[in-house]
Amino acid sequence: MNILAIESSCDETAAAVVENGRNVISSVVASQVEEHKLYGGVVPEIASRRHAEAIVPIVRQALEEANISLDGIDAIAVTYAPGLIGALLVGVNFAKGLSLSSGIPLVPTHHLRSHIASNYISNPDLKPPFLCLVVSGGHSHIVMVEDYTKMKIIGKTRDDAAGEAFDKAARTMGMSYPGGIELDKVAESGDHFAFKLPRPVVHDAPYDFSFSGLKTAVINLIHNSAQKGIELNKPDVCASFRYAVVDCLVTNFLKAAEDYRVNKLVIAGGVSANSLLRKTLREKCDERGYEFYMPDKSLCGDNAAMVGSQGYYEFLSGNIAGTDLNAYATMSIE
Ligand code: KG4
Ligand code: ZN
Repeated sequence: MNILAIESSCDETAAAVVENGRNVISSVVASQVEEHKLYGGVVPEIASRRHAEAIVPIVRQALEEANISLDGIDAIAVTYAPGLIGALLVGVNFAKGLSLSSGIPLVPTHHLRSHIASNYISNPDLKPPFLCLVVSGGHSHIVMVEDYTKMKIIGKTRDDAAGEAFDKAARTMGMSYPGGIELDKVAESGDHFAFKLPRPVVHDAPYDFSFSGLKTAVINLIHNSAQKGIELNKPDVCASFRYAVVDCLVTNFLKAAEDYRVNKLVIAGGVSANSLLRKTLREKCDERGYEFYMPDKSLCGDNAAMVGSQGYYEFLSGNIAGTDLNAYATMSIE
């Protein structure tokens, strides 16, 4: 079964053709990041306009690269939540029009569920149930994936998402949007014990995260030093901050695994590309004898292949939308 998948929730216009949820036949991603860099973050109206321009050529390219026509497509999966509403509406309306004119069923797909599904592509043997740490620019969740379309949130951030904290710390150090990737690279040559940063905990909620205090601590460190004319070693600041964020993520994730007696752990979302997070969890899971899965780095960020994977399982579970499908800026993964 072939799914044509469409993604437009933030600043990537993407389309893909995926066979049986696991085999990516084509995947095209048009990133707008260079334009948003000029403003230090995603400008929603610009994002919507660029999606409107890109959606037709990108979908056409995905079909051409798959060497398939609409006759060979069994369902159209589209990201309908969560994300920037104007951006989501471009993909949703395009997919609705295509579904209506072709008679191909339309499958609404949740963006974070799709991030989790990127693992089904990279790890062909992976099947639920498992515990997943979903860490992106907008979300930080620990999710019990009971089945492909049945999930329960075990913990989540009370304030900033991990990616957001990485980006804001990076911006304070003069790195361009989205700085999380560059911060990770610069951290490689630093000493993560150089600066002592807090590990905020949420009382009575051991699986929840809080990153805003940690983010403020590193921003204060940078500003205070600048005011005193002290030049900080950038790699050391990056390494100390990355170590603190990863420590918070890993501690709560492993505690949840232990308490819920799950020995199959998975990570997903843009921040799952973080080198220290991948390395630390690999080691900790090996020590404990847990199975550990992560998406290929190329599938951690936003793409449509993951939408095609999750869309397949949504279709099998009967999740088909009518022509009244809407987009939603927020929606629980559950
Ligand atoms: O999942 P994603 O592509 O978009 C959302 O759905 O939000 O995640 C983007 C986030 C950004 O905050 C970006 O800085 C972060 O993922 N990110 C990283 C790394 N690569 C991407 N953060 C830390 N280390 C990385 N290597
Ligand atoms: Zn995403």
